[in-house]
Parts: sequence; structure tokens; C-alpha cells
Amino acid sequence: MARTVFALGFLLVVLLRGTALQSESKKSTPRIIEERFGQLADGREVLIYTVENSRRIRMRVMNYGAIIVSLETLDRRGQSADIVLGFDNLQGYQGNKPYFGAVIGRYANRIAHGEFTLDGIKYKLAQNNGTNSLHGGTQGFDKVLWHSEPFEDPHARGITFTYTSKDGEEEYPGSLKTRVTYTLNDEDELIIEYEATTDKATPVNLTQHAYFNLTGEGSKDVLQHVVKINADRFTPVDRDLIPTGELRSLERTPLDFTKPVAIGEHIDEKYEQLQFAGGYDHNFVLIKNGTEPSFAARVTEPTSGRVVEVYTDQPGMQLYSGNFLDGTIIGKHGHAYGRRSAFCLETQHFADSPNHPNFPSTILRPGGTFHSKTIYKFSADADSKHD
Ligand code: GLA
Repeated sequence: MARTVFALGFLLVVLLRGTALQSESKKSTPRIIEERFGQLADGREVLIYTVENSRRIRMRVMNYGAIIVSLETLDRRGQSADIVLGFDNLQGYQGNKPYFGAVIGRYANRIAHGEFTLDGIKYKLAQNNGTNSLHGGTQGFDKVLWHSEPFEDPHARGITFTYTSKDGEEEYPGSLKTRVTYTLNDEDELIIEYEATTDKATPVNLTQHAYFNLTGEGSKDVLQHVVKINADRFTPVDRDLIPTGELRSLERTPLDFTKPVAIGEHIDEKYEQLQFAGGYDHNFVLIKNGTEPSFAARVTEPTSGRVVEVYTDQPGMQLYSGNFLDGTIIGKHGHAYGRRSAFCLETQHFADSPNHPNFPSTILRPGGTFHSKTIYKFSADADSKHD
């Protein structure tokens, strides 16, 4: 009898230990790793998070600029590649760099002459792009240190970034409390949610400025990538890339991506809008049906089969074909980023909205909450079909 009790007890101990080890071994493969990435000049530490899903998509994001430093996805053969441009270290991201992978705010895109009038008060912003204000000014949200909190659910994990932009920061009115959440789930979606509240009326336009090259960063240009955009109009610009206010039909223009077209197919046509921008750098007016995120764009890269689809609740999306990259920036692994070696799909409100009463309003008022959601969904096509 005593022997049986002993044996049962022994068995129980073995079973319990087994369970503990099992859960330990589960724990020993965490999907989020937090590490130190570097230090800012004022001594503050910058953290970087490695987030992975169950299907081998891996992303690294840091709390400086809430920047996506790398994003690895699989091609149709299961080969992984990092599909976003960026730098190997924190120093690379500092200085006057073209917003690789960053969150853009308080106002993404341009504001003409850095000026707008709100409730009878005229505001003057820094002119950091010719005479215009671009992407939040000299120290926009891409160049600040965010507070970061990782989180993990059974089928999704990510980071919540928060940042309070002070009243008067970059000359914008009101203290703006901002929260940006990146969630990578097991359905191969990167979900980006933005939220903001203010104590004074202010313009707000937030976006993500990842530069994609679906053959892998550092590869050749993106002219073979095939794009489809769910838009029938765009906002034409002047030669300083400021919207004229017109909403123009895309029909019979070289900006028409209602059917899938390679980026390189029409990019050098003698169409004034392309000449002003040196390629695509335009806001597309998305076809919307309700307020939930809906299909905005699909980009396919024929040789790797990699696909990125964009869903958003925002009214617009900037397609930028990396026209200002010129090979002088040396990015990850010593790669020189040449002209048009990446594309951006920046979901947003239209550029210069504070100066265009006919555009959807970007003004956030006290008591209101700005919400927006964009989903980038990654996959690989079995063959090179485009749609
Ligand atoms: C946005 C703008 C472009 C360019 C890049 C950053 O996409 O529309 O004109 O300024 O950002 O270089």
C-alpha cells in the first residue's frame, strides 16, 4: 500500500514538473524581446522591440519616432527578407533623414507656407520644405522619444507608444496626447491604430512612413511592383507639391491604378503632375463606404510574389515612389538607397487640409478624440498574377 502511494506520489511529481517545464519552454520562446538600441544626446535610452508572429513575420520597432526598423516577410518560396528601408543603428536615423519607418505627426504631409488660420488665429509653422511645412516641422513625431509598452495576446502582440506633444510644440496649438499601437497578429496583419486628444483646437494628421521594397531593402528600384489603388480621384498639386484644391478624376491619367499597373509603366510620362513630383507623390482620394477600415491598395512584386495590402478608415493615401532618394543615403548592411528604390503608402487626410475648407476636416477639438486605423496585410502570391 505504502509503495503504491509512494509510486503515485512520484508519478504526480513527474507530471507536475513536466507541465511546469512545458510552460517554461513556452515562455522561453517569447514573441517580444526588448533591448537597448542606443542613447540620445541628452542621455535618454532608446529601446528596440523584436516582435514575431507564429508564421515567421518578424518586425523590429524602436521607441524613437516609433520607427519600424525592420520587417521580415516571406516570399512565395518561404524565403524571408527585410522589406523596409532603414539603418543598422540609432545614429543612422538621426539628422535630416527621409522619415524611414516613422510615425508622422502632428501633421503628416505639407502645409502651404507653414501657415494656417484656426478660429481666427493665424499660426506660423517652421518652413522645413522649401517654404512649406512638411511632416510636423523640424522636430516632428518621427524625432521624439515615445513611451513604449509591449503587450501580448494569444494571437497578437505589439507595442503601445504614447507621446504628449506640448502646447506650442512646433508652433501647433494645444497639448496633444497621442497613442499609436502596432499589433502584429497571426493572420500576418500589422494593425496600426492612432488616437489623440487635445486641450485646444488643433490640426491632426497622423501616418506611418514605412518605405517598402518587396524584393527586400537594398534591392533595385520598385518599378516592377504592381499597384492597385481603390481610388477614382486624386488631389493635384502645384510645383511645390501643395494641393490646388481640385479633386480630379484619375480616368485617362497616368495616375490611374484602379486596375493593377506596374509603378514603372507610366511614371516618366510627360504629365505635369508626374513632372512636378518627379514620379508618384500624390494623395489618392479613397473610395469609402462607411467608417470602418476598407480596402485601399494592393502591391504585388512579381519575382518574389510578396504582396502587401492596405486597409484604412482614412479618406486619403499618399503614394510616394521614392523620387527624392538618390543613392547618397547608405542604409542597412551598407546598401545605398537609389532613386525609386522604395514606395510608401501613407494613409492620411489630404495634404494642406487646414487651408482647404472643401477637404475633410483635420481639426481636433477639446472633448473629441481622433481615432484612425490602418492595416498592412502581408502575403505571397503562388504565381505572378497581379489581381
Ligand atoms: C512624403 C512626401 C514626399 C517626401 C517624403 C519624404 O512622402 O510626400 O514628397 O517629402 O515624404 O522624403
